[in-house]
Amino acid sequence: MKKHIFSASLLMSVLALAACGSDEAASGGESGDGVQEMTIKFSHVVAENTPKHQGALAMKEYIETESDGAIEVEIYPNSSLFGDQDEYQNLASNNVQFIAPDLTKFVGNNPQFNVPALPFMFETDEQAIEFWDGEKGQEILGSLEGDGVLGLSMWPNGGKHITNNERPIDSPDDFQGLKFRTQGGQVLEEIYSAMGAGSESIPFGELYTALDQGVVEGQENTFSNIESKKFDEVQDYMTIMNHTRVDYAVFTNTEFWESMNDATKEIVQAGLDEGTAVAREEAITLNEEALELIRERGLVEIIELTPEQIEEFRTALEPIYDEFEEQIGADVYEAAREAAGQ
Ligand code: LMR
Repeated sequence: MKKHIFSASLLMSVLALAACGSDEAASGGESGDGVQEMTIKFSHVVAENTPKHQGALAMKEYIETESDGAIEVEIYPNSSLFGDQDEYQNLASNNVQFIAPDLTKFVGNNPQFNVPALPFMFETDEQAIEFWDGEKGQEILGSLEGDGVLGLSMWPNGGKHITNNERPIDSPDDFQGLKFRTQGGQVLEEIYSAMGAGSESIPFGELYTALDQGVVEGQENTFSNIESKKFDEVQDYMTIMNHTRVDYAVFTNTEFWESMNDATKEIVQAGLDEGTAVAREEAITLNEEALELIRERGLVEIIELTPEQIEEFRTALEPIYDEFEEQIGADVYEAAREAAGQ
């Protein structure tokens, strides 16, 4: 009996939340130009001085200006509205209209989202962008349709680098016995186990504390995320690796997207395009600046690898490609290699 009461009340709150989400997105009114009055929420997990936040800001500014204030865009950085654990469910329920999570956090839905984790696949943002803007990339971005989620655009952050508080890392053997935090997914997990290390997926919002308290000894991230979240305060070494990437998908709720009339959607789509351009531009600059800031702070010893040392890592991680070919797809590998000019 108790169980039924619980289920019924849970169902009621889920329905109430979902209803409240859609009400918030569109208030029902229209401006003189036929633009629907609404408040759009954009939630993300990183800091303000990052490519993702700068993209979201550009999107907000464009949409609010072009709609003459009929559309308001609220941005929630730093997991202040939703974090890694709950942003996707809340997008599916339309409690938030845009999120831009790291693609590798969706490998549970589709293993092809592992592409940014493929070791040493892409050297530059341009190569990654070419893949995600291409046919295969677009197909993968669209693969969450069944959840009522639309993948609209890829925003890059950049190459990831290894930090840890145990020892300077310059060869695969240095990973032995350490435990690293990952963004999640089978390929990242395998990268660490191939080098004799353990790994654990931890939400981004909990990472600083996990490093500080020694839950894990290290992690991999972009300069921009390392600097803006001050991970160098709780780490002693940083190896510049560029072995995997953080790339984002801007996701929206399909029902919300389809509820917009043409005049409204035109502005929101153009705002998204503006956000994409800014995020792609800022990614390079902000990561370069972040590396400089990390150097200036001087809290971590920075290890720069020689081409021979990078080759050693490449060789150690090469078997991962065969291991995941069936899950990710030879066609995806081929498209990624083509975009990478290999
Ligand atoms: C992380 O979890 O380390 C990153 O993916 C966070 C982000 O959104 O850049």
